Amino acid sequence: MNASGDALVLGIETSCDETGIALVRGTTLLSDAVATSVEEHVRFGGVVPEVASRAHLEALVPTLRRCCAEAGVGLGDVDAVAVTAGPGLVGALLVGVAGAEGLALALDRPLYGVNHLAAHVAADRLAHGELPEPAIALLVSGGHTSLLRVDDLACGVTPLGATLDDAAGEAFDKVARLLGLPFPGGPAIDALARRGDPNAIGFPRGLTSAQDRERYAYDFSFSGLKTAVVRWLASQGTPEAYPDVAASFQEAVVDVLTDKAVRACRDSGIDTLVIGGGVAANSRLRAAAEERCGAAGVRLRVPPPALCTDNGAMVAALGSLLVERGIPASPPGLAADSGLPVDIIVR
Ligand code: KG4
Ligand code: ZN
Repeated sequence: MNASGDALVLGIETSCDETGIALVRGTTLLSDAVATSVEEHVRFGGVVPEVASRAHLEALVPTLRRCCAEAGVGLGDVDAVAVTAGPGLVGALLVGVAGAEGLALALDRPLYGVNHLAAHVAADRLAHGELPEPAIALLVSGGHTSLLRVDDLACGVTPLGATLDDAAGEAFDKVARLLGLPFPGGPAIDALARRGDPNAIGFPRGLTSAQDRERYAYDFSFSGLKTAVVRWLASQGTPEAYPDVAASFQEAVVDVLTDKAVRACRDSGIDTLVIGGGVAANSRLRAAAEERCGAAGVRLRVPPPALCTDNGAMVAALGSLLVERGIPASPPGLAADSGLPVDIIVR
């Protein structure tokens, strides 16, 4: 603890292909070290779980050393350890959880096994300070797309809706592949779309018909959109049209995400929207969310792009909130849970 009573929290993230380790005190990020194995997955067009696990094993200790050196602190200064316990790839999660358990035991400090999705939301604390509660959270990553009501980010998160099929990031990755773009596809489509016309092709907006809105008000579906892109490319797609395809596809995803997120705010009378997860780095999503929130009188909070994709900072940010709010640490024998539900914040 420092003079102001803020705990120094070490955060460890290994749920997918990034080994992220960070140190946070209160809402201040002291250091954020990330090692990625993304290059090793490119030729497969997606993350290969075994390759990711091995890369975490090799990167964990060097990344931890780099993190401590950057912050100028020793491990003995750490007050609590937080680690992603799920959801994610089980082999990848196990590396982080086992490493964090060993550290917590050796240092005799509390260990928090935290939810990766809640951590994406908590990342915003590091950029904009405490999140106003209640808030609506739009979580858009490679594996998940959800709308959440956040009454208390430490212990009160309620799912409002989620994708029925592909996650938003998954749709970006799949469509990028169709366009011959590298993995991960989100940043590549974001860049290509800048040269295209978002209104060139009227791609479908999933679950937005009057009937679907009654039944699936806050749910999403992107597989029909993906099929529409496949069909369009098969019938008339020449490479010259790819920028328009990228821009129109991106517009369809962003339109539905922002429309449903702002509706969730309006319907529940909540005036803060926070967006987290890798897709929150998308430039068009950020601009459209700002426009729609501005028009609806909703305060928008989106972390800077570097804090949207996976990192240890978000895990440390959530860990630090849990310590501040007096949430009990995980019991001994913490296990990873690849399917950890979004409303279980500490395991
Ligand atoms: O949160 P994240 O780093 O990992 C998961 O928890 O899944 O999200 C990764 C996803 C990938 O699907 C990637 O294509 C997407 O985020 N992504 C983007 C952008 N940057 C990353 N999608 C759209 N636009 C971007 N600029
Ligand atoms: Zn993530």
